[in-house]
Amino acid sequence: MTTRSVQRLIPSVATSDGAGVKIKRSLGQNQHSRLDPFLMLDFFGSDKAGDYIKGFPPHPHRGFETVTYMLEGHMLHEDHLGNQGHLKSGGVQWMTAGRGIIHSEMPQQEHGLMQGFQLWLNLPAAEKMKPAAYVDIAPEQIPTLALPQGSIKVIAGAAQTAEASQNGPIQGLSTAPQYYDVALNANQSLTLVLPAGHTAFVYPYQGEVQVLDSSESRRVPEHHAGVLSQGDSLTLHSTAPCRLLVLAGAAINEPVVQYGPFVMNSAAEIEQAIRDYQNGTLTDNKAAGSIALSH
Ligand code: CO
Repeated sequence: MTTRSVQRLIPSVATSDGAGVKIKRSLGQNQHSRLDPFLMLDFFGSDKAGDYIKGFPPHPHRGFETVTYMLEGHMLHEDHLGNQGHLKSGGVQWMTAGRGIIHSEMPQQEHGLMQGFQLWLNLPAAEKMKPAAYVDIAPEQIPTLALPQGSIKVIAGAAQTAEASQNGPIQGLSTAPQYYDVALNANQSLTLVLPAGHTAFVYPYQGEVQVLDSSESRRVPEHHAGVLSQGDSLTLHSTAPCRLLVLAGAAINEPVVQYGPFVMNSAAEIEQAIRDYQNGTLTDNKAAGSIALSH
């Protein structure tokens, strides 16, 4: 086994998106902080309503997938066709924008903590114009792998240690994403098998974590993305209790041209997306499909 080490750290920056929702953005602050196939990772977390109450009013997307993981809180998702979905604590919405979707994500609470992530995952050229589809994954549909060191919620792919493995509900996408929410107790070491060749990073959001390779240990501070080298395993170590995301996916290796919420392969395709949005033809105006969950 080749152990992955931390190659570089991407600190998150405080910014805002939507109608002024305060976020911490790590991946996606600029073109140098994308990690093919991952385009962006935003963390939102506040118990001040003013930081989130205005939400994300209707906006378009084309050419990639958005994955919203709600740690705490309640948001209502609505799209241009009137589909609705409630996103509650512990739930995930996996959305393939494909050729186009226009949607809003609005808080359904006026106080209390709202906390979670939105990840943007790229699509290969062959899938950028496929019909839009999404699925709301309820908290009870996300399995937890209980371990002596802590636990792993498996949203996509399969979490695997030397002793145990657990499949998540999202399987079979072309980038083969692995999306885990890992909780470690104090003073624990945990080795995970990760697909060799996948791009991978860790993102601690409560406390910090250390990544151990054969010769050294490197600390990844809270709210930093720790970009990992190639390898087929990852060893995490905690000195205090911590929670972190572990994300891995197969690189697409195609040109990325982004203009706000449109992510395509060329400037001409971006111009087309803008024209389609202005002409009302961004979406195909058919019912959005649903993504099948694996059980
Ligand atoms: Co959106």
